[in-house]
Amino acid sequence: MMNILILNGPNLNRLGKREPEIYGKETLKDLEEQVTTYGKKRNITVETRQSNLEGTLIDWIHEADESFDGIIINPGAFTHYSYAIRDAIASITKPVIEVHISNVHAREEFRQVSVTAAVCLGQISGFGFEGYVMAIDYFHRGNGS
Ligand code: DQA
Repeated sequence: MMNILILNGPNLNRLGKREPEIYGKETLKDLEEQVTTYGKKRNITVETRQSNLEGTLIDWIHEADESFDGIIINPGAFTHYSYAIRDAIASITKPVIEVHISNVHAREEFRQVSVTAAVCLGQISGFGFEGYVMAIDYFHRGNGS
């Protein structure tokens, strides 16, 4: 059975409370339940983790190279400036998909830059929680590996 690691970065534990007009009213727990259930239906084990810490996310990315078939990551604001997370993604061989809940390209200029997307398979941005589901589908269809 395929297993996918879903990583959410800083401030995504605040989903539901945090700028609901941008990120919606649903919580991180709602998101994690939705993606886990969706994965199960497609015979994919989905493990979800969230951290506000750059180093923790980096350690999890490294670990995934041995323990998972792919990563779906929303690096939060680290997307825009963390060369360390970019290098961590580049250091592994497993496919990584970048997801953003909001359409980062329609927002402030600093959000329109992703230093991580170039080392990912691609980026899904602006589809809300659905973006994570689209990424799971990509893996389900046998792509990415
Ligand atoms: C985000 C977009 C980022 O710019 C922001 O810093 C986040 C969330 C998104 O999912 O839309 O924390 O990654």
